[in-house]
Amino acid sequence: MYNSKITGMGFYVPDNIVTNDDLAKIMDTNDAWIQERTGIQERRWIPEGSEDTSAVMGAKAARIAIERSGLTKDDIDFIVFATLSPDYFFPGCGVMIQDMLDMQTIGALDVRNQCSGFLYALSTADQFIKTGMYKNILVIGAEYHSNALDKTTRGRGVGVLFGDGAGACVLSRTEDNTKGILSTHLYSQGKYADKLIVKTPSIKHWVPEILAGKEDDTSYFPYMDGQLVFKNAVVRFSEVINEGLNANNLTSKDIDLFVPHQANLRIAQFIQKRFKLNDDQVYNNIMKYGNTTAASIIIALTEAWEKGKVKDGDLVVLAAFGSGFTWASAVIRW
Ligand code: UT7
Repeated sequence: MYNSKITGMGFYVPDNIVTNDDLAKIMDTNDAWIQERTGIQERRWIPEGSEDTSAVMGAKAARIAIERSGLTKDDIDFIVFATLSPDYFFPGCGVMIQDMLDMQTIGALDVRNQCSGFLYALSTADQFIKTGMYKNILVIGAEYHSNALDKTTRGRGVGVLFGDGAGACVLSRTEDNTKGILSTHLYSQGKYADKLIVKTPSIKHWVPEILAGKEDDTSYFPYMDGQLVFKNAVVRFSEVINEGLNANNLTSKDIDLFVPHQANLRIAQFIQKRFKLNDDQVYNNIMKYGNTTAASIIIALTEAWEKGKVKDGDLVVLAAFGSGFTWASAVIRW
């Protein structure tokens, strides 16, 4: 059996910075509340008139990842794309990226696992490589949240949290079984599907309802039972990280770098404390980008790597929890 390893990574975020003070001008919120509860100082939102979308940002990140992998677009033999904010209901963004990058006729798959989307995508790609089916897979996570948030006081509990951006990596076959993705673990618990959800528009609530003009209908905006999500997140993060470590006969002492999904700095700090990790062993950037959902882990991992925080031989642990509920971890020997 083959192994898979990340050979190139890239990320793209829009230039437009939206600070907490900027939000305080359009809704009843303040910098102190947002920073205290979430750690977020600013986020990137695609500005009006920009061509950026989830697919466009994903393509920008993918170009960087492919170049850094030392491969060309023609070496890529499959695409896995994760988002909760696709450009269209269908087709998925994966095929759009194939076209944007002028790639060969290959397969493209969209993954819809929200905050855990990147890890589900990475795991999917890992399985294809381990079985020998593909050699170089482009794995992308991208989100365009800002166009679908309730930016009024009514939506402040969710609207201040999310940012736009994309990250990508190339996962390649290696015959060195001491390096690369050691394991992934994926879970879901659909009984909590309605605790973090956008209900409308959907196939159930379609054009006639939209045309009826439902300005007061909050089902068009993300809803989150924040405290329930928080409580489940800290439990599931811990479980799935432990499972990954145990599966590889490792302990938290072996972790060189932990990159959690960037949902809330307080969740990341809780996990850091629970696993007795020092600040150098954890990478967070929610302060600058907010929660970019399926893009957050790969943006953070790429940024950490760019800063020299991911070195050859390091043990890197990734973990996520979010809507679905879904949660996942990946253990990687760099
Ligand atoms: O990536 C997906 C996974 N997501 C997560 O893991 C997020 C998990 N949950 C959380 O991070 C937290 O629940 C939040 C940061 C979202 C919210 O923090 P909280 O401590 O649970 O606040 P809350 O929703 O209970 O609201 C507390 C108060 C309320 O006011 P009252 O009822 O106590 O008067 C809210 O109306 O804070 C108010 N509030 C705000 N005030 C200022 C809610 N949003 C805001 C805001 N600015 N943006």
